Amino acid sequence: MSKQFDVVVIGAGPGGYIAAIRAAQLGFSVACVDAWENEKGGPAPGGTCTNVGCIPSKALLQSSEHFEHAGHAFKEHGIDVSGLALNLGQMLKRKDGVVKQNNDGILYLFKKNKVTFFHGRAAFAGAAGADGYPLAITGPANETITAKQVIIATGSNARQLPGAEFDEKLILSNTGALAIEGVPAKLGVIGAGVIGLEMGSVWRRLGSDVTVLEGLPVFLGAVDEQIAKEANKLFTKQGLKINLGCKIGTITKGDNSVSVAYENAKGEAITAEFDKLIISIGRTPNTNGLGADQVGLALDERGFIAVDDDCKTNLPGVWAVGDVVRGPMLAHKAEEEGVAVAERIAGQHGHTNFNTIPWVIYTSPEIAWVGRTEQQLKADGVAYKAGTFPFLANGRARALGDTSGMVKFLADATTDEILGVHIIGPMASELISEAVVAMEFKASAEDIARICHAHPSLSEATKEAALAIDKRTLNF
Ligand code: FAD
Ligand code: NAI
Repeated sequence: MSKQFDVVVIGAGPGGYIAAIRAAQLGFSVACVDAWENEKGGPAPGGTCTNVGCIPSKALLQSSEHFEHAGHAFKEHGIDVSGLALNLGQMLKRKDGVVKQNNDGILYLFKKNKVTFFHGRAAFAGAAGADGYPLAITGPANETITAKQVIIATGSNARQLPGAEFDEKLILSNTGALAIEGVPAKLGVIGAGVIGLEMGSVWRRLGSDVTVLEGLPVFLGAVDEQIAKEANKLFTKQGLKINLGCKIGTITKGDNSVSVAYENAKGEAITAEFDKLIISIGRTPNTNGLGADQVGLALDERGFIAVDDDCKTNLPGVWAVGDVVRGPMLAHKAEEEGVAVAERIAGQHGHTNFNTIPWVIYTSPEIAWVGRTEQQLKADGVAYKAGTFPFLANGRARALGDTSGMVKFLADATTDEILGVHIIGPMASELISEAVVAMEFKASAEDIARICHAHPSLSEATKEAALAIDKRTLNF
């Protein structure tokens, strides 16, 4: 007889493993099935985020930033470094170690919460019977289990550019971009989005000459224009060669190089030679091999699993969360949906507020934002007030030696409610949390302006930007 579970989660990325843990906390019998393999063929739960996404990219961003600081910034602090050398092998090994700690941590959390883990690929094996949906698992685990409720959290894969298949040696997706074994002298990046900028920054800091080719005529179109402009200026000064408005033509692989023919914004035909090429032009939902047609699971017009606001699919008792459904492809969005679905299955009122999901780009300086941009407010016809404060005028940023960027507040012109906060600068990823909390509580800019912030801290720039809404900055 097949093993029966109240809830089976397919995929152990941030959406899936968190949903499994929350469902187990709520008293359900829970299994989680995940196909990811480590280099020894063992399980590696954590999905894209842990294995080839958030975690390894942040490990390399940190290491490469240390390397760059040791080469330049330390001198200003009175620290002379001699014999500085890059040990890329050790850097990649450390990154792999950080990934493994996270894989092991998730296996431990499954045990702690009594979630049964199956290492393999799950697919619907037919319509729901009295015991629920039969799910066939293939791989190291090989059995059929049944689930009264199914949560699909199968994530996404890098989008392929037609005619330029990923071989992870010369033409790299995020997977190859995180594991280049020697610093490429010339690195090409197609797509100036989040991955292109983060991975481009890593390899530039380690010594590559990085050229980024972006299709759109604007830089970081989803980011507040003022912040995006500042980012473009700073990244260009660092040495990233950012080319907007490029039409990519033929990509040809040689023995040890790749050539990219493209038309630049002026309409000139250019052919560029690179030692490696990263293609980061977005991601596509992962619905392959799920047996969706076995059960009539509906997809939307873009190939995502179709869900309503509560993450319910068209099938009773089948839910979907994370990158495989509409909305931002972010780990914390996937987690929030996973928790909310587990709580809904338990009859509770799970909640995900899409208006207060923070975004962070982990470049240097970091870029972080929550809520609407100035251009969105204009397009929506909302009357707003704006206030900015530069890190140049913040004592802690000066002490750090990291004064680039600003904090920007946007508030409703009548009610003063915070509508958006945009930061480019040191530790923007941490600073943005205050704005998220404030927006969740529907705070006004004045609320933040009246809160005591520790001195000297970067967060004082947040308070000052709130003060700037009414032109009352104290330190600028
Ligand atoms: P995934 O993490 O993709 O996990 C899905 C899992 O399901 C995988 O393990 C897969 O093997 C498994 N699976 C698929 N099909 C089956 C099946 N049929 N049976 C069993 N298992 C299956 N987001 C952030 O918020 N912050 C960041 O800093 C960040 N950095 C990123 C950096 C990079 C380079 C990339 C590529 C992404 C980054 N992201 C980041 C995005 C983040 O990784 C995703 O939003 C997140 O992983 C989505 O989680 P998920 O659970 O929906 O899917
Ligand atoms: P992206 O959507 O961020 O950027 C893709 C870029 O490629 C866009 O600027 C787009 O205009 C451009 N593009 C698309 N087609 C093109 C073409 N044919 N030629 C030239 N340019 C083209 O996607 P990316 O960087 O691949 O990342 C995927 C997702 O992963 C992100 O959207 C984000 O959700 C997630 N992610 C999040 C991170 C974070 O939170 N810090 C880090 C990395 C990824």
